[in-house]
Amino acid sequence: MEHGTVCVTGASGFLASWLIKRLLLSGYHVIGTVRDPGNEAKLAHLWNLQGAKERLRLVKAELTEEGSFDNAIMGCAGVFHMASPVLGHITDPREEIINPAVNGTLNVLRSCKKNPSLRRVVFTSSSSTVRVKDNIDSQIPLDESCWSSVEICERLKIWYVLSKTMAEKAAWEFCNENGINLVTVMPSFVVGPSLPPTLCSTASDILGLLKGEAQAQAQYLRTGRFWLYFFFINFVMKTGETERFYWHGRMGYVHIDDVALCHILVYEHDDAEGRYLCSSNVVDNNELVSILSARYPTLPIPKRFEQHDRPYYELSTAKIKSLGFKFKTIQEMFDDCITSLVAQGHLSIP
Ligand SMILES: NC(=O)c1ccc[n+]([C@@H]2O[C@H](COP(=O)([O-])OP(=O)(O)OC[C@H]3O[C@@H](n4cnc5c(N)ncnc54)[C@H](OP(=O)(O)O)[C@@H]3O)[C@@H](O)[C@H]2O)c1
Repeated sequence: MEHGTVCVTGASGFLASWLIKRLLLSGYHVIGTVRDPGNEAKLAHLWNLQGAKERLRLVKAELTEEGSFDNAIMGCAGVFHMASPVLGHITDPREEIINPAVNGTLNVLRSCKKNPSLRRVVFTSSSSTVRVKDNIDSQIPLDESCWSSVEICERLKIWYVLSKTMAEKAAWEFCNENGINLVTVMPSFVVGPSLPPTLCSTASDILGLLKGEAQAQAQYLRTGRFWLYFFFINFVMKTGETERFYWHGRMGYVHIDDVALCHILVYEHDDAEGRYLCSSNVVDNNELVSILSARYPTLPIPKRFEQHDRPYYELSTAKIKSLGFKFKTIQEMFDDCITSLVAQGHLSIP
């Protein structure tokens, strides 16, 4: 297909930077939105990408400002909407995460609606939008027909999952009502090299795990009650870098390059439609640390995690595989991630 101009929101982020790298390598012209175009240190990695000087333009846009994305999106054939608040410390969930994610998505889509050149919008959702529910059958892999329960997310104060679930639902409703061609990609936990100089939340979690920083926190999780984990996460364990590993117990992982390639595949493929889970393998924490410890025996990776009472699940990726996609392995994603952490000076291997 002809490689026209596409917009990527949240361009300076971990995933968006890699997507832009891949889009530029494929010959696209890219308009990236950032909150602070004057922040040279934060954006240098984008300007260093191959093709950036000729085919990348950065434009200021803020999710919470109505009409802020109009200029960036007008004239683009495609929009990759990735900007969204990702975890961190939350004091006011509505203001800090729910509203920017949900109303920000609608804001971006209203700009898309004004653009007569638009072919397709690809929205970055999350695999968490399918798995927070109370009727999981361990025999049946979760697939694109599943939705996390808004009620459970609200009750247990799982704000990030709530924000992604509500934002994706709002996107479907808006696009169906307004005739916008929408496809969503739902990555699991993204692992791989990081282009931005500062580590995003996911990369910090992995660094904490590799440095064994959270071992002491595991003792808090011994009682094994489901609700207690959420209480712990939301009210007690605000500082642990590996909190997500303890919290989930079992997680899907995907290489950052696969996430970018999936986005481009579902943008380009005429038959792509609906939602796409994007995940290589789902593994228990203990399985993960045993793979990593065997591969990196000199790193102080925790030897085992406390087992807790979470439903067993698998993710079905048959839909994206039916478009011809193949995922990289857990080993490849962690090898590439560790190489990048070492190169950026965040980690040293004794
Ligand atoms: N990393 C994962 O494991 C993972 C898994 C599944 C889905 N996702 C999704 O992938 C997307 C990117 O995540 P990431 O891991 O790359 O995180 P990230 O590095 O923190 O990127 C998030 C981006 O969103 C932008 N953003 C946040 N609030 C904004 C606002 N109010 N207005 C404009 N821009 C705003 C940030 O801009 P600033 O740089 O200015 O803060 C940043 O560029 C998110 O939608 C996330 O939910 C991530």
